[in-house]
Amino acid sequence: MTDDNSESRARSASYHNPDRLLRRMSSMHRALTDSQVVVAVRVRPLNDTEKEAESQLCTTIVGPGTIKITPSDGVGSQEAREFNVDAVVHSDAPQETIFKLTAKSILSKVFAGYNGCIFAYGQTGSGKTYSMIGGSDPSTEGVIPRTCRELFSKIESETDHMYVVKGQFLEIYQEKIKDLLAPDPAAWDSRAAAFGDAAPRSGGGSGENLVIRHDKSPGGKGIYVTGVREHILRDTSDVLDMLAKGTQRRVVGSTNMNATSSRSHAVLSLTISCQNADDVEGFTRTVSKLHLVDLAGSERAKATGATGARLREGASINKSLAALGNVVNSLTSKTKSHTPYRDSKLTRLLQDSLGGNAYTLMICCVSPAEMNSAETMSSLRFAERTKKIKNCARVNRDPKLARIAELTEENQRFKKKIKELERELEETQNKLSDLTRKPSIREKSTSVSPETTTDLIATKKGGCCVIS
Ligand SMILES: Nc1ncnc2c1ncn2[C@@H]1O[C@H](COP(=O)(O)OP(=O)(O)OP(=O)(O)O)[C@@H](O)[C@H]1O
Ligand SMILES: [Mg+2]
Repeated sequence: MTDDNSESRARSASYHNPDRLLRRMSSMHRALTDSQVVVAVRVRPLNDTEKEAESQLCTTIVGPGTIKITPSDGVGSQEAREFNVDAVVHSDAPQETIFKLTAKSILSKVFAGYNGCIFAYGQTGSGKTYSMIGGSDPSTEGVIPRTCRELFSKIESETDHMYVVKGQFLEIYQEKIKDLLAPDPAAWDSRAAAFGDAAPRSGGGSGENLVIRHDKSPGGKGIYVTGVREHILRDTSDVLDMLAKGTQRRVVGSTNMNATSSRSHAVLSLTISCQNADDVEGFTRTVSKLHLVDLAGSERAKATGATGARLREGASINKSLAALGNVVNSLTSKTKSHTPYRDSKLTRLLQDSLGGNAYTLMICCVSPAEMNSAETMSSLRFAERTKKIKNCARVNRDPKLARIAELTEENQRFKKKIKELERELEETQNKLSDLTRKPSIREKSTSVSPETTTDLIATKKGGCCVIS
């Protein structure tokens, strides 16, 4: 980094200040209400390899949503460039800040009946898994466990609504979808053997090589995976157990770039049904989906030193990320073109979240080191392009049930009106009968003789006549 950047470095240092962070948070909240696709960039601290290589910093935070990258002379012909996104988070920012800044707003949309998606993107070792899943210590917990805690804490505090939460946890490994919560195959085999049976192998109970379908019917399931197990989640511990179990079974490997590199894309999906507490028929029900995604990172074989299976994994990861890039390009290009969602399992699964019916947040993770500036530059270009995607989120309600709810409400309004009218009618009738009765009372009190009564006409000012 050059000296003329010292001023912006000083400016960036001031963004460590919690007040600044909070201000950035409010700008993020504003962005979320205005926009259905929000992009945050998170810069991680230098890692040991970068420190050992004495790599200089190449990123500078120059504003709440602006990051500048100054690549080294050795990196092609790249020039210093500023990128504008919705929020830029410094390497010192704690996990809680990332959650409050990003996921909380998405969760509020999910509670309002919209779909939500939060995904972390970036090169290998840039901090995606750290940001999404994080460590076991509460202070280092990532966006996913924090979101799950917040979800159930809000559900438990609500008395006006009833909720049912279901979850599934998938991974996409080498273009195959696997249920991370399927029964352990070894346990299956021994159980099946006891019954003289074989465990199902594909598309069904084995939880492997699952297929994506699209239910386009009004109020239907949208994009979904067949054969995956959905688990009812009653509280925070249910969802955290599910997360821990699935994460343990996900494919992780060691490369030169990251000792704990994710070799698959992991997608934790929660389905949240909500209805008014007094609505036993479920006419007010909304069903929202929340995808929480930790992508595998793009990688260069030369940098990761991968060979054999690791190399094949890397090629598959890059291929699906290229498909993601093509979808984003197509969605943001000025000329309307076909969007190639079907080119990869990842883009097909996230179809609704990319240019579709969802509020989407991308956390773009980057390294601050000059030695990784080419990848950082490419991630930031992707972030800037993603920000231009236009989604069209709507409240997810079955149109038939919504119509019934509307008619029921109208019916109740009419019933109330009828009751009011009936009451008014009764009052008028009472008044009328009062008026008709009054003259005869007067008649009695004046003790008119029976002879004259036949000719007597009792009148009341403005009232009616009574002839006895
Ligand atoms: N913001 C951060 N603060 C502290 N440590 C971090 C941060 N981000 C990442 N790390 C550390 O850097 C290492 C790599 O991070 P992580 O595994 O999250 O990368 P990744 O982007 O998921 O990589 P891959 O694509 O290979 O899975 C981990 O040891 C992690 O703890
Ligand atoms: Mg990872």
